Amino acid sequence: MTTPDLFAPEPDDAGEMVQLRQLLHEHAHRYYVLDAPTIPDAEYDRLFRQLQALEARHPELITPDSPTQRVGGKVLAQFAPVRHAVPMLSIRTETDTEASGAENFDARIRRELSLTDAAPALEYVAEPKFDGLAMNLRYEHGALVQAATRGDGEVGEDVTQNIRTIGQIPLRLPADAPPVLEVRGEVYMRRDDFEALNERQRQRIAAGERGEHTFVNPRNAAAGAVRQLDPAIAAQRPLSFFAYGLGEVTAPEAGGPVWQTHFEMMQTLKNWGFPVSSLVRIAQGAVELVAYYESIGALRDGLGFDIDGVVYKVNSLALQRQLGFVTREPRWAVAHKFPAQEMLTTVLAIDVQVGRTGKLTPVAKLAPVFVGGVTVTNATLHNEDEARRKDVRVGDTVVVRRAGDVIPEVVSVLPDKRVDDTAIFTMPRQCPVCGSAAVREEGEADYRCTGGLFCSAQRKQAILHFAQRRAVEVEGLGDKLVDQLVDAGIINTLPDLYRLGFTALANLPRMADKSAQNMLDALEKSKQTSLPRFLFGLGIRHVGEATAKALARHFGKLDAIMDASEEDLLAVADVGPIVAKSIRTFFDQAHNREVLEQLRACGVTWPEGEPAPVAPQPLSGQTFVLTGTLPTLGREQAKALIEAAGGKVAGSVSKKTSFVVAGTEAGSKLDKARELGVAVLDEDQLKEMLDGGA
Ligand code: IVH
Repeated sequence: MTTPDLFAPEPDDAGEMVQLRQLLHEHAHRYYVLDAPTIPDAEYDRLFRQLQALEARHPELITPDSPTQRVGGKVLAQFAPVRHAVPMLSIRTETDTEASGAENFDARIRRELSLTDAAPALEYVAEPKFDGLAMNLRYEHGALVQAATRGDGEVGEDVTQNIRTIGQIPLRLPADAPPVLEVRGEVYMRRDDFEALNERQRQRIAAGERGEHTFVNPRNAAAGAVRQLDPAIAAQRPLSFFAYGLGEVTAPEAGGPVWQTHFEMMQTLKNWGFPVSSLVRIAQGAVELVAYYESIGALRDGLGFDIDGVVYKVNSLALQRQLGFVTREPRWAVAHKFPAQEMLTTVLAIDVQVGRTGKLTPVAKLAPVFVGGVTVTNATLHNEDEARRKDVRVGDTVVVRRAGDVIPEVVSVLPDKRVDDTAIFTMPRQCPVCGSAAVREEGEADYRCTGGLFCSAQRKQAILHFAQRRAVEVEGLGDKLVDQLVDAGIINTLPDLYRLGFTALANLPRMADKSAQNMLDALEKSKQTSLPRFLFGLGIRHVGEATAKALARHFGKLDAIMDASEEDLLAVADVGPIVAKSIRTFFDQAHNREVLEQLRACGVTWPEGEPAPVAPQPLSGQTFVLTGTLPTLGREQAKALIEAAGGKVAGSVSKKTSFVVAGTEAGSKLDKARELGVAVLDEDQLKEMLDGGA
């Protein structure tokens, strides 16, 4: 009998390490070489850390080819290799998404510099961590001569042809730039450009074009575009760029630039024409780093592009030199991550939800998962075609993405993780709520329930729409209460809302007398409204807030709108043939007129006005495109204002565009505007035009 060797690796560990390496190799290949990852970064990081932990326990089992032993990606054979004059390093990542990530960094730096607690706060620069791909731009005597990806940090790929198509990257520098200048930064795709690209891709797929696919996120779309072999195709994929650092630069002794701080250097890059994010800030000590982390975290969803964290850098270049490097990472910088925007979870069920207009939407019910900073349990599958294309099935392991204010969606399925006996999803041919036929009209992507207000789901949505803040506003009337009221048969139509009595309300389960009275007060208050709010609240198809306002201004009185012909309606600035027809159809239905009469009889009222003189509106005939973040106006707000003044808002810039309104971090639309010679306005100029100025 032999005694077991206590120090031999457990056979399970050795086997697991082999498996993990194999898995990580495969996923790294999909990520770096094919630009088509199948698992989220967070999952890759988790596997990577698992392997690192096992290797720490069994250092004798580390193989030189282990993914933990090398940085970054492989060089694609198709592109010429470029040896970086100065290696492109990575940075240490602080995955702790609490404030302590910033505090740890500051404490470490102070230790390295042997600073006592009494020493003053250190000065840092804090920047967003852009989620794209690193690029080295080499300029010689002011001309862009080469653009290279990071590759493995030592050798990257020559992608100059494709990078030249990015309008934001200067091809020539001013005369005061040094003879050799390498600018490093991130190539990325804006979220709106990404959505538009995927929309075009979906149309290509629908039109039967072969070999086309959609992209799972803006970073992959950007990586795919940069490493596209055909520069003409790369040019159709709108990319943007932010500078954040330097590679090789002519030395001061040879007449090169002298900078004291990172921030000063960034200002110079900006002056030379490189895009530098307006979110780059100087921060004193850990306290301001924490404040920055939190403020950028709060802005994250509203930015036009993905960021996966922030980066802190010691501002003084002398201190940076003093701190130096550990292995392949600078000691003077750290990345502090935000919660991941893509995570894995499983599909528990696929429900079909019925919207206000009867639209059926397949929704994946998920095992709860923390993604993009919130716990997500539902993700849209959009429509039947999308659900089929992704082939999402109950029981599947899926990647869920939640970024920006876009609703969470299932981006892909992990086919390897599919369990046995799963069924392909099919859209029901009957409304799951009322049983009426569900039909998909020719040329439409959606199925609709034909039950109309017979369908309780549509009734509930119609009531919630009417009661919302932007319509007549019934404070405190939420979906739970509407469910109760409709399910109990207490409310069937909008006017029933105003016939609610105290007893009916107070008798509902979990309804205190005080809450019942509050609800009655809120209903009473909602009766005093305005014509645009009331019109919008009716939920006429294609009549949004802006159209409701335009109608109210044009006709002044509800009766005038009810009796207007399609031709009369077309005279309204914001109204085209489809909208005119929809309004006419709505008011032609006797039961809709009946509902209006009853609402008025219940005391719903608004000040009626005179029809507006048909003075031309300040922006009529003009088409606007919005890009970037405006200083005070939200995207929807700006759009509503333009439309209310008779203008149109389009999604992309063309020769027909009258003006592009650009805020900070404006992307390719601004480039396109300049290329086409379209006039560019800032928010103040837009406001002047809205007020009727030239
Ligand atoms: S500085 C030596 N600043 O994050 C320090 N990197 O490993 C070089 N990144 O892939 C990096 N935003 O492309 C720096 N503001 C920023 C950044 C940033 C994104 C990327 C970079 C690299 C990774 C760092």
